[in-house]
Amino acid sequence: MIIKPKVVAAMNAQIQSEFTAMAQYTAIAVYFDRESLPELAGFFYRQSDEERTHAMKFVHFLLEAGAKPIIPGLPELRNDFGSPEDAVQFALDQEIKVTNQINNLVAIAEQEKDYTSHNFLQWFVMEQVEEVDTMTTLRQTIKHAGGSLLLAEDFVRRNFAAGAAAGSSDEAGA
Ligand SMILES: [Fe+2]
Ligand SMILES: [Fe+2]
Repeated sequence: MIIKPKVVAAMNAQIQSEFTAMAQYTAIAVYFDRESLPELAGFFYRQSDEERTHAMKFVHFLLEAGAKPIIPGLPELRNDFGSPEDAVQFALDQEIKVTNQINNLVAIAEQEKDYTSHNFLQWFVMEQVEEVDTMTTLRQTIKHAGGSLLLAEDFVRRNFAAGAAAGSSDEAGA
């Protein structure tokens, strides 16, 4: 095996985080769907799909490197939110947590002198810049909309629609 056991263990933990994010974003999408906010719902359904591609990138990398990926069970998820702002803040907090986890993974790869994994992880380092930026923008949008969620819907439709440049362009081929 060309990658290190410690790194494999940490990547398996990351696979759980990515699948958890996938399911959590579906739960947030369902919340917006039930609030009859289809653009915000669509945004989080797409975000959920993206998290699956993140999980699968780790799965395929581990397989190619001769390691065993573990497909995990999921922890308890949040299905109830006090407000749209609350739901988006929760998503942003999750992205910041994932960013710290990715950085920690890079640190482990470095300690283990596992440069194969280190190189693989660089994609995720840059992806998290985009993820945190997108979610920060969305949080600010809802704040600026000042209670008018139809304005927020309009902003999401124009800027984060399926296939729009922001956020999803590099995922299509992932
Ligand atoms: Fe992710
Ligand atoms: Fe993410």
